Amino acid sequence: MTTGWEFAMRRCLQLAEKGEHFVGMNPLVGSVLVKDGEIIAEGYHAGFGLAHAERDLLEKLPEDMDIANCTLVVNLEPCNHFGKTPPCADIIIAKQIPQVIVGALDPNPLVSGRGIERLRSHGIEVITGVLAEECIQLNRQFYTRMIHQRSYCIAKWAATADGYMANNSEHRLLISGEQAQQHLHVLRSRVSAILVGVTTWERDKPRLDSRILDSDVESSESWNPIRIVLDPNLRGNYDTEAIDRVFSPLWVLNEKIDENKKSERGNNVRFIRLPKQWIWQELLAWLYQQNIASVLVEGGATTLGELIASGCVDEYMEYRNTDLRIGGGIEAPDFPNGWQQQQFLGEDLLRVFKVPIAGELYR
Ligand SMILES: NC(=O)c1ccc[n+]([C@@H]2O[C@H](COP(=O)([O-])OP(=O)(O)OC[C@H]3O[C@@H](n4cnc5c(N)ncnc54)[C@H](OP(=O)(O)O)[C@@H]3O)[C@@H](O)[C@H]2O)c1
Repeated sequence: MTTGWEFAMRRCLQLAEKGEHFVGMNPLVGSVLVKDGEIIAEGYHAGFGLAHAERDLLEKLPEDMDIANCTLVVNLEPCNHFGKTPPCADIIIAKQIPQVIVGALDPNPLVSGRGIERLRSHGIEVITGVLAEECIQLNRQFYTRMIHQRSYCIAKWAATADGYMANNSEHRLLISGEQAQQHLHVLRSRVSAILVGVTTWERDKPRLDSRILDSDVESSESWNPIRIVLDPNLRGNYDTEAIDRVFSPLWVLNEKIDENKKSERGNNVRFIRLPKQWIWQELLAWLYQQNIASVLVEGGATTLGELIASGCVDEYMEYRNTDLRIGGGIEAPDFPNGWQQQQFLGEDLLRVFKVPIAGELYR
């Protein structure tokens, strides 16, 4: 029976969300302890390298607390392996918790199913699949990374009402209104990296930061993602004062040099030579190895076109200005499978498509 535990699982999902921004490559996990239908203790995974949710909860319990008839509820299968912290299955067994309710199985091949097996082998009753879809959706980035062993990838562009993402001139065309820009800057603050092609870097001179979110952001290093430019032939200019105004590293992926560059101004540029990794599957696998949990690819058309053709996009986002028509220019990409959601942000229409995860394996 998976019904009856939804209230507790919903609370786990709320707790799990508290870890957003802090868990890095790890999943978002919350856990509660239930006795006689009441939640009596809570825990969550608060940051990369910190205790997992179940351990956070169980270690905080008073020594003399009677937990003999309690049920532990958690949105992701308890782990059974040593990572940065010891296995959660062990502490659940040690505390003699008789029943565990799990939202979804862990997609990590080191864990998947084994955490549950271990609990059951110690006589613990385990019920799985409570709000499984919600649990998988909350961690869709983690599932995607684990299944494909690459960074989670969002393709984003702004389009005019007649379907162009740029005009044919050398000058930047501002397409999005204020609300859409605000929305984008919040999104930027939630990803590990923002990536553009070199032509966009040169033409638009984008700052690639999350400045509108919070006016203090420019003086804080914490919220700006790593900036990445795809520039195989080193055509771009990386010696400008504007680069230093954003407190985040700039990685220039190229085929020529490999060096860190710090100018007198403190210019934080890293040139990284990638001889054979220009195929998107490989680029994203390489970014994953550099601990880039998610990457927002912002264009231009060539970069987005190749990315979309590679099939590596996990989420498509278009901000379409419903008033502006320019009659010609660089065409915006198409959604390969349409969009699932849309909402107005001022005069812009945000359309989103999230590629479904093969979640049935993890229920
Ligand atoms: N509306 C929007 O949302 C939006 C967003 C961004 C940009 N834009 C506009 O788009 C225009 C620029 O687009 P664009 O298509 O001309 O150029 P782009 O995509 O910005 O840059 C293309 C260049 O980046 C390098 N590159 C891209 N993908 C690569 C890959 N997988 N492997 C190796 N190199 C790669 C290549 O450099 P090499 O040529 O040296 O090989 C390529 O020619 C600008 O006008 C800009 O304003 C609009």
